[in-house]
Amino acid sequence: MNKNTSSIWGGRFGGGPSEVMERINASIDFDKRMYAQDIVASTAHCEMLVAQNIISADDGKDIVDGLGRILVEIEAGKFEFKTALEDIHMNIEARLSELIGDAAGRLHTARSRNDQVATDFKLWVRDELDALDSETEKLQATLIDRAEEHAATIMPGYTHLQTAQPVTLGHHLLAYVEMMGRDRGRIADCRKRLNESPLGAGALAGTSFPIDRQMTAKALGFEGPAANSLDAVSDRDFALEYLALAAIMATHLSRMAEEIVIWASASFGFVTLPDSFSTGSSMLPQKRNPDAAELVRAKAGRVIGALSGLLIVMKGLPLAYSKDMQEDKEPVFETADTMALSVATMTGMFSEIGFDEDKLLTAAKAANANAIDLADWLVRELDKPFREAHHISGELVKLAEEKKCGLEYLSLADMQSVDPGINETALASLEIEQALDARNSFGAPAPANVTVACAEARKRFLS
Ligand code: ARG
Repeated sequence: MNKNTSSIWGGRFGGGPSEVMERINASIDFDKRMYAQDIVASTAHCEMLVAQNIISADDGKDIVDGLGRILVEIEAGKFEFKTALEDIHMNIEARLSELIGDAAGRLHTARSRNDQVATDFKLWVRDELDALDSETEKLQATLIDRAEEHAATIMPGYTHLQTAQPVTLGHHLLAYVEMMGRDRGRIADCRKRLNESPLGAGALAGTSFPIDRQMTAKALGFEGPAANSLDAVSDRDFALEYLALAAIMATHLSRMAEEIVIWASASFGFVTLPDSFSTGSSMLPQKRNPDAAELVRAKAGRVIGALSGLLIVMKGLPLAYSKDMQEDKEPVFETADTMALSVATMTGMFSEIGFDEDKLLTAAKAANANAIDLADWLVRELDKPFREAHHISGELVKLAEEKKCGLEYLSLADMQSVDPGINETALASLEIEQALDARNSFGAPAPANVTVACAEARKRFLS
């Protein structure tokens, strides 16, 4: 049994915690990542205490100066983090008292670690949302550049991973840009809802000191103070929402990564991965493996796990703070690292990936993906009902398969054997470039559309 009781809360204790208790209780190993937020929030709290005449200006100055020195020490790697001091809040406060003496003990007036940790953590998640947003914008910028470059590059479009209709590569890449756009919308929503200050809620029931919660909220960039003290210290919705948006975004990145894995396979051969984003095999000399894409695909699992994990921690917790909530940080920190790495990997990969335009075109021409264009021609030129046109085009596909050729290689006589009304202009409609140019309805893949859509996407998403 450790005889030294905590100097911060040990007044009513005779003996100290056991070594195991100390280990399970401590969060310093991970919550030290919030040091900057803790110092900013403590500074705001201290300045408010001075402004409200709750502590003296002299003590306030010593506290703010001391916090500034601690920030420098931590950033210089000179701060000694101690497990016995549990968490970042008490590590900083204990160091403050070493530096400035008794005045340090006044900083915690009208505050609890419960409102302190909620405030620090919100500030941390808010910073992380801003960082993720700007990294995602860079990914969008890269995708838009590549889309513009490939506005007219023809590739097969799939449903059920079966060749369905030709599309343009630019259009396909812009689909990702839209996914990322919604992810950024969720980031903005989360940031907006998060932005209420818990500081001043105390342990759970506020304080009898005449604090000014508007002042601290404003100093910390919050819209205002959270309205209910019980809710303020027990709310972790912001962490859950962050993990939820990250889980959705990681799912998007995973789907994109899966396409790279498929496209890079020898059977598809649509892309060549840059050396900088592929690895070799220790046994097979010819291999070039898409490890980076596979890892991005897999990392969604961790992020989804982090979300489920924290939901399970939070479910069933009574109001207000419970120590369970200390388990909120690791999944969030780990997710932040995972997301930053995954987004940077995708940005790097997409900026350098090489597309094989010939293979893409050949694949797009395979599998009679132009059968719909023939059906549309029958509707437009011969005024057939679509269902009948669909049937005629299907019969022609069957005929082409029997003759072991593509639909566009059937002779006019062959076509007329199925429907005598068919003429030469039907053959032109089967040309892939023409078919794609014609597919110019709003949001469709025609090359001219893609060029316009790239310009629009730049306006909508890039700053
Ligand atoms: N390290 C704690 C956490 O992350 C700080 C709050 C502790 N409050 C308490 N009353 N034990 O949740």
